[in-house]
Amino acid sequence: MHVLNPDTLEPTAKLLHEVVAAGLEHKTSEDVYGTRATPEQLQALLLGDLPDAPSSPEQVWTEITDTVLPYCVNMNSPRFMGFGDTGGDTASLAAGLFAVLAQQNLINQSFCSPSGTFTEIAVLRWLRGLLGYANPPADQVTSVWDAGGVITYGGTGSNTVAMMLAREHAAPGTLAAGVTDPERFGLIVPRGIGHYSVKSAATWIGCGTHVTEVDTRGFRYDLRALAKAVKARRGRTMAVVAYAGDSRTQTVDRLCAVAETVREHDPEVWLHIDACWGLMCALTPRLTHLLDGIELFDSVTVDPHKVLNVPYGVSALLLRDPASLRLVSSYSDLIMQEDFAFGQVTPFIGTKEWTSLRAWAAMRALGRQGLAQVMDERLDRARRFADLVDARPGLIRLNEPDMCAVAFLVLPAGHDPARPDVDRINTLNRALHARLMAEGRWHLHQFTIPDDLGRVRQGAVLAPLRFVSINPRITDEHMRQVLDYVTALSQEVQP
Ligand SMILES: Cc1ncc(COP(=O)(O)O)c(C=O)c1O
Repeated sequence: MHVLNPDTLEPTAKLLHEVVAAGLEHKTSEDVYGTRATPEQLQALLLGDLPDAPSSPEQVWTEITDTVLPYCVNMNSPRFMGFGDTGGDTASLAAGLFAVLAQQNLINQSFCSPSGTFTEIAVLRWLRGLLGYANPPADQVTSVWDAGGVITYGGTGSNTVAMMLAREHAAPGTLAAGVTDPERFGLIVPRGIGHYSVKSAATWIGCGTHVTEVDTRGFRYDLRALAKAVKARRGRTMAVVAYAGDSRTQTVDRLCAVAETVREHDPEVWLHIDACWGLMCALTPRLTHLLDGIELFDSVTVDPHKVLNVPYGVSALLLRDPASLRLVSSYSDLIMQEDFAFGQVTPFIGTKEWTSLRAWAAMRALGRQGLAQVMDERLDRARRFADLVDARPGLIRLNEPDMCAVAFLVLPAGHDPARPDVDRINTLNRALHARLMAEGRWHLHQFTIPDDLGRVRQGAVLAPLRFVSINPRITDEHMRQVLDYVTALSQEVQP
């Protein structure tokens, strides 16, 4: 067995140096993919038996470079325009590598994460401060229940903890007694634009699928329809979820109006904001007004790994009232009964990786000014992309970007705006996306959305392509090239 000790330090350092060099080469490449292969080909290559004979770490690394690395996606490529997940922030990469080596376990503080616990609390407090949630002075943070939230590995985990809190708030003691009346735990979400994680969370925590989907206008709740739904389910809704940046167009809902509408008709409902993307609004004075009303909500999910260019997986659930975490705390003599043991307040997570250091480092390196500058550059890039789309007659843009997402359709030959053939439009755009994925030269995202702004036909369900401007390597030239590329490709895949 090869393990790290003073005798193996030199070969280990040499190997890790090679690993870092290969990882950096991968991330700085122009290409989204080195090589494309089908799942069947990769299955044949990678689903072998566990070998009988041992191999050296160097041999294992060679196998990775030969059989795994060539097929890995490079989301830091300037042609990767589908999401924001570049993982390219330098301070964050350094911190992430260090955290792997340091092997701290944030389940407890005293013996397995003496300093890491406090960098995690600092991240939570920085995120809260940016969003406008109050923090106690640093010297009055006396336990994890003063930290104001928890770090999880993704938005799905954070939303799930939020739904648990909503359930306990609706029927205190359910954690111990179990769910006896699932109907009591209804969920209200916007139709067609929500993220599956909140619905799945309700099922995972035993509340079933008592989900009411409310119509939207302009990718925001139709407030009259919302009022009607809340009234109709009064006393049987555990949570209303609003998006500060939905998964598709990153539109920010009217938070004040949503909160006031809900509270008027059912004051007890837990109000949750999914701001996985919306954290970006907190970064620049140009957008902070979009978060007005956030203080009326009980909990907020944010995803630094989507918006701060930090490696996976860092998410946070932040609570208006930090003490509300007591509703879902765990007590066990296997977790230290100490003030700063995050294991007590983080449902679903025992051993807890120090992923928050990645966000800590990125935020620490940029500071408020740097965060604002990065965000403003993204906003301007999204605007310029929207203008490029608008300038091309064969394309149609589906959203007015609040943040960094621009959804657009390539129109088929002979498209008649007075009588749009929605099936044909969607078939073309699906075929384009399939070709983009198969070729792997460019990456744009695809999903379905209601045509809420009536750009093709009001209410039609469309399958657009989506550009996201978060990746700082994207230049105007790349934006022009990707539009040239999909336009040319559309000649080949016309339905
Ligand atoms: C709005 C929103 N919420 C939640 C999630 C889930 O986040 P994660 O994939 O980090 O679990 C996503 C992912 O795209 C999202 O867009």
